[in-house]
Amino acid sequence: MTVTRPWAALLLFLAIPATALADGDSDRALVAKGEYVARTGDCLTCHTAKDGKPYAGGLPMQTPIGIIYSKNITPDKETGIGDWTYDTFARLMRTGIDDEGHSSYPAMPYPSFSRIGDDDLAALYAYFQHGVDPVRQANRKSEIPWPLSVRWPLGVWRWAFAPAVQPFQPPPQADARIARGAYLVEGPGHCGACHTPRGLALQEEALSDAEGSDYLSGGSAIDGWVPVSLRDEYGGGLAGWSASDIVALLKTGRNTHGATLGGMNDVVVHSTQYFTDEDLVSVAAYLKSLAPNKDSPPFRYDDTAAKALFNGTPPTKGAQIYVDRCGGCHRTDGKGAGSVFPSLAGNPILQTADATSAINIVLAGGAVPATATSPSVFTMAPYADVLTDQEIADVVSFIQTSWGNTGTATTREKVTSLRNTKAR
Ligand code: HEC
Ligand code: HEC
Ligand code: HEC
Repeated sequence: MTVTRPWAALLLFLAIPATALADGDSDRALVAKGEYVARTGDCLTCHTAKDGKPYAGGLPMQTPIGIIYSKNITPDKETGIGDWTYDTFARLMRTGIDDEGHSSYPAMPYPSFSRIGDDDLAALYAYFQHGVDPVRQANRKSEIPWPLSVRWPLGVWRWAFAPAVQPFQPPPQADARIARGAYLVEGPGHCGACHTPRGLALQEEALSDAEGSDYLSGGSAIDGWVPVSLRDEYGGGLAGWSASDIVALLKTGRNTHGATLGGMNDVVVHSTQYFTDEDLVSVAAYLKSLAPNKDSPPFRYDDTAAKALFNGTPPTKGAQIYVDRCGGCHRTDGKGAGSVFPSLAGNPILQTADATSAINIVLAGGAVPATATSPSVFTMAPYADVLTDQEIADVVSFIQTSWGNTGTATTREKVTSLRNTKAR
């Protein structure tokens, strides 16, 4: 059994399904609104298998207890949700309980979706009944060993961690813009599913800022990429970014500070690039309003490394590899080139003790995704077959600790283990 991607981290390049029109202008408007809500919830990324039909499910997701498959949510009456009433659909979206009364695995982010408002949920239902092509494709059973495959403990999980329907509450004193951003991020956008640390039972430590400043303070690695903190803090968060930097990243996958990697590419390609500009501005305003969770000093650029590289006296082996292999694009000053080659100086992924993302991009390479407004793709080649694990550790240690970056050095062992665990 080959798993294409762990849950929620997958690459799909799919056409938007042809929209079957419902009767009447108001129905059409409702379906169109539902299509937008589906974009904000990124339903497509998880509910479509590689090379599969849109929303027909069947995407394998690796969870700590085994493999589960996403489900067919097209309006096919036999294998999809064509015969679901609105109430059944609303119950699933808000509590995870399906049409047969079973609890869903929380890989379906219903703790966040429970915050979707009534109007948006009604529109979403209309879209999945009338705006999506029906596809006859039976759901696949999960591959989870007994007794973990028994679904009733999930009811206990739900009771403990996603207790009752949690209607959205705007943050106290939020203006209309911040309130809209909070709604998109905490509700349909389910950003916390990746960006909030998880507890022992894999529950998100907080589902909103009101529940604690762990919310969006950075999650654990998914498929080798570490979701950064989205709070307005240094030491790996977004304090060095303006609101318009955040808007640019969510619209185009790149800005002058960085470019998206891994699962975040899918979020931009299938979800945030479709947000209206007003909604992106709201999301950015909300993220900028989040107080720091940790006390880190502001990033301060340090020109020591740039001077040494410029003078031809690289201080370490890692610095020499950087000059030979990386500086052509990311430059000796580490500042990259506009939004073509990301800046490494001050880059959020290089400010923490966990160098996983940096090691992975060097091993596997990457490409800034193409989006409607920025169709050009810029790539970085993989170095897995070019550099040894020791050399990768050396160059990653160099970029983690140069130009003022506050990350920590990494080790050959860490590179070796990432090389071995990541199927490529
Ligand atoms: C992060 C991945 C992910 C995202 C995003 C996601 N889903 Fe799901 N969804 C799943 C998984 C996995 C299941 C199956 C859970 C199980 O088997 O317990 C599921 C199940 C469902 C079901 C139940 C289907 C059935 O036959 O029981 C519905 C309905 C559904 N999702 C709708 C949606 C909608 C609508 C959206 C977007 C607003 C969405 N999902 C976004 C992963 C996701
Ligand atoms: C041909 C130009 C080029 C070269 C050479 C290059 N890179 Fe990159 N690098 C890129 C591009 C383009 C991206 C964005 C990739 C993406 O978004 O997936 C990137 C991304 C990165 C990132 C992640 C930054 C972010 O915000 O996404 C790191 C870290 C990085 N490179 C380090 C290195 C190191 C270390 C080397 C040398 C071993 C190197 N690069 C060589 C072009 C290059
Ligand atoms: C499927 C998991 C996932 C979801 C859902 C997700 N992200 Fe991310 N995000 C990541 C990962 C992994 C990274 C780190 C890699 C990178 O820098 O792109 C990241 C990075 C980011 C960055 C920093 C990018 C950079 O270059 O440093 C921003 C900003 C961001 N996410 C915003 C969001 C917002 C807003 C949402 C909700 C609309 C969201 N993310 C939802 C996985 C996710």
